[in-house]
Amino acid sequence: MYYSEEIIAEVQQRNDIVDIISQYVRLQKKGSNYIACCPFHTEKTPSFSVSRTKQMYKCFGCGEGGSVITFLQKYENLSFPEAIKYLADRAGVQLPESQQSEAAKKRDSRRARLLEVNKAAAGYYFYLLRSDKGKVGMDYLERRGLTEETRHKFGLGYASSYGNDLITYLKQKGYSDSDIKDAGLASFSEQKGISSKFWNRVMFPIQDSNHRVIGFGGRVMGDGEPKYLNSPETEIFDKSRNLYGLNFARTAKKPNMILCEGYMDVISLHQAGFDQAVASLGTAFTDGQANLLRRYTKDVLLAYDSDGAGIKAALRAIGILRQNGLSGKIINMQPYKDPDEFIRNLGTEEFQKRIDEAENSFLFRVRIAERDYQLKDPDSRTRFFREVATMICEFEEEVERESYMEAVAERYRISKNQIKELVVKHAMSRGGVTVAERPKPASSNQGKQRDHVKHSQQLLLTYLADKPELYQKVKKYLSPGDFTDETYGAVAERFFADLEKGSANPAVLVSLFEDPEEQSQVSALFTTHLEEISEEEEAKAFRDILLAVKKNSFEYYSARSGTDIQALTKVIEAKKTLEELNKTHIF
Ligand code: UTP
Ligand code: MN
Repeated sequence: MYYSEEIIAEVQQRNDIVDIISQYVRLQKKGSNYIACCPFHTEKTPSFSVSRTKQMYKCFGCGEGGSVITFLQKYENLSFPEAIKYLADRAGVQLPESQQSEAAKKRDSRRARLLEVNKAAAGYYFYLLRSDKGKVGMDYLERRGLTEETRHKFGLGYASSYGNDLITYLKQKGYSDSDIKDAGLASFSEQKGISSKFWNRVMFPIQDSNHRVIGFGGRVMGDGEPKYLNSPETEIFDKSRNLYGLNFARTAKKPNMILCEGYMDVISLHQAGFDQAVASLGTAFTDGQANLLRRYTKDVLLAYDSDGAGIKAALRAIGILRQNGLSGKIINMQPYKDPDEFIRNLGTEEFQKRIDEAENSFLFRVRIAERDYQLKDPDSRTRFFREVATMICEFEEEVERESYMEAVAERYRISKNQIKELVVKHAMSRGGVTVAERPKPASSNQGKQRDHVKHSQQLLLTYLADKPELYQKVKKYLSPGDFTDETYGAVAERFFADLEKGSANPAVLVSLFEDPEEQSQVSALFTTHLEEISEEEEAKAFRDILLAVKKNSFEYYSARSGTDIQALTKVIEAKKTLEELNKTHIF
């Protein structure tokens, strides 16, 4: 972390969240809060709420929330230190020299240098595309139907076919051979010295999510090989943790992201208004990229090529999405090969239809698997359903398994019981009893109960943030350990320590987490929606919540007390408190 808690607190205290957010969003006063239509998703009635007392914002529609720092990180695409810097400058707060090690400082300045070289190179390629020397490139992009606005937005350029003009240019600007080489723009050999990596190619600058150029993809003019040449990985270019187009897609107000294979696909989709499109960087889709996407959406639509290689890549990507908790759907591009061709031929509306009709990734896998069997042959048919059963067993939730069994039964006109039999058989053979035949309500109840528990813990923290004076009344009944979720527990620990000191500031607590997603989660703990109710009702509600949290804590530790002495102590303590709470009036 760059800045101390004191600095973060000071910067936040000097920048009122209502002032900052109203620079971007029209806020209306409502009760003690301010409301507006949410800037992070599309909506007609306002569910975005900003609290001056808590110095936090929250959207009850899309779940976005956090402190003034979170807001700037998300709205302005700033990193955590950048947001702090912006707010400090605005309020005239002097930031201390960051306490980095010498090595870290050196690394940062090298990275800054490489970013500069790349930016200068992008500028040069951009200029060249628009000069006489860039005519081949320009003709090509026009033939591909890109408008000037689009070429500009993506900073497209051209690398010339003669000489080392880029290198000459960069050297004039003061960059050394090794700067140029380390940025991946040139290679070095004993005989020839330094020479450009990209020749006679249309250049696609690859930007990180803060719009900084970290590498390039270059498409050859004509039929040369390789068709696309990409910058090598460098200190600033990690292909597995960046996505082409994400710098724009992250602020697209769309409920999903579209993942495609190529740069041109992303660009044509954006040009057609689908500004939620991204692509991997000339390599296969990775876990790191899935993680990146998960910050912005749960729903990823795949628009991979419809040929064999594309299908194979899509199947792989589906697996990665799943492992990372994302649900994938497949956009059918038939009869065209890729989104670029599709849009050029059938246009935007048709593509939107294909988005709406995108196929669930499980059903897509089943359909692809089907090709390996002859469903008319009874033997082959059974083997096919066995494979499907194996796939169904991958789902952990029974509700999911049930609904896929139904979907498969319907699609292949077979009874659900037959599928179920195969599924159970497979599960047994694995030794896994996960596909228990227990009645449906039991399992979904468990899920609900988990949510309910989390919700009570959230409500309790929200109440305490709203009315810190309550803390004194309840502290003897409550400990951070009662917040059984790991993150909640950590937050409660800090929060209670602050309340003890009489200086609780949930907004600062939120900002102690650097990742905007974590900030959202933590802020949800303090900004759960509280019904407007009378004081009397409120006292009762608060008591109920406290009881629910204690009761869960009791049950949670009871379940563990067989093996864990500490848990046993918790159980005894919780039981006593529960009894006490049941007979006393805390208000
Ligand atoms: P495609 O061959 O499908 O290219 O490769 P495309 O995007 O349709 O290209 P155009 O329309 O012919 O210009 C898809 C993606 O795979 C990577 C690139 O990122 C490309 O956009 N690729 C492809 C490479 O990195 N190197 C190659 O040689 C080919
Ligand atoms: Mn193409």
